Amino acid sequence: MITVKEFGKTKDGKEVSLYSIKNSMGMQADVTDFGAILVNLFVPTAGGDKLDVVLGYDKLSDYETSGSCFGATIGPSANRIKGAKFTINGTEYSILANENGNNLHSDGEHGFHKVVWDARVNDDENSVTFSLKQEDGALGFPGNRTFTVTYKVTDDGEVAIIYTGASDKDTVMNLTNHSYFNLDGHDSGSMEESTVMIKADRYTEIVPGAIPTGNLPEVAGTPMDLTSPHKVSEHCDDAFEQLVLTSGYDHNYVISKETDGVEKVAEVMAAKSGIIMEVYTDLPGIQFYAGNFIDTHTGKGGASYARRMGLCLETQYFPNAINEPAFESPVFGPNKPYNTTTIYKFI
Ligand code: GLA
Repeated sequence: MITVKEFGKTKDGKEVSLYSIKNSMGMQADVTDFGAILVNLFVPTAGGDKLDVVLGYDKLSDYETSGSCFGATIGPSANRIKGAKFTINGTEYSILANENGNNLHSDGEHGFHKVVWDARVNDDENSVTFSLKQEDGALGFPGNRTFTVTYKVTDDGEVAIIYTGASDKDTVMNLTNHSYFNLDGHDSGSMEESTVMIKADRYTEIVPGAIPTGNLPEVAGTPMDLTSPHKVSEHCDDAFEQLVLTSGYDHNYVISKETDGVEKVAEVMAAKSGIIMEVYTDLPGIQFYAGNFIDTHTGKGGASYARRMGLCLETQYFPNAINEPAFESPVFGPNKPYNTTTIYKFI
């Protein structure tokens, strides 16, 4: 069931709504047309409680000003692009250099998470579809483009996020969802005692600034190995060079895929609540970010947020894939529409 209410007005006066998508088991995802953001995600526990498992804000104005990307749809290019430039079909494109001379998340002020999308409620599918048009050259990226992001809540406990993109020119399409999960509740403090498994035998090694070197080292025998479940706290602060560079896990894992389709790639288990989240995707990579740089500040319901209070599992093409020929290409265009699905399933 889907209900709609007002979520405020943007600073330039646009009205924004909050769509609540519920399933028959008491799960509820609240999503807004501002930034196609997942604001709240209520998950029932075996004990009969309902926990909101994503960090966020009560007020639209906080989403407008915050740099944390809580719940955000990031696009058109998530993660980092080296030197904030890339070449497609012989033409070089320059985009915003907003982190150490590189690009992070396309644009922190005008990117996909900072604009109002069109919204359509699909009652028959229990989903809401947000759509966004981008003109050729918007944010420096080529192509007249249309994107959609659909949030669907199923009776199997799934929040499915389906992305599509069409363009009249070849361009970069690499959207992700940047939710910070805490399966004991967004207001429960550190998530470091929760357990993470990622089905990945390799990861993209990085240099300072978190740009991949192109090497894909094996996780085996290192603190990066999450092929079996480990508490985040177990190795997050190990003196392992790759982890020191990012003050804890903040790496793209190379998913050990078994099919071309949507398959299970990660699992998180709460420390206390009993909630388990499975992640499914058809994409080749997943950025595990342990919330190492969450600023100390106030979030939903007056909750006090700080470092490591939420973790992100951002499914994606590898960071800087547009400049690394060996990485699977994030180029889509007239002959190659973009269509990808990620599912966060709660059990
Ligand atoms: C972005 C990225 C994360 C992490 C933080 C660091 O949010 O998505 O993976 O690198 O920046 O602040």
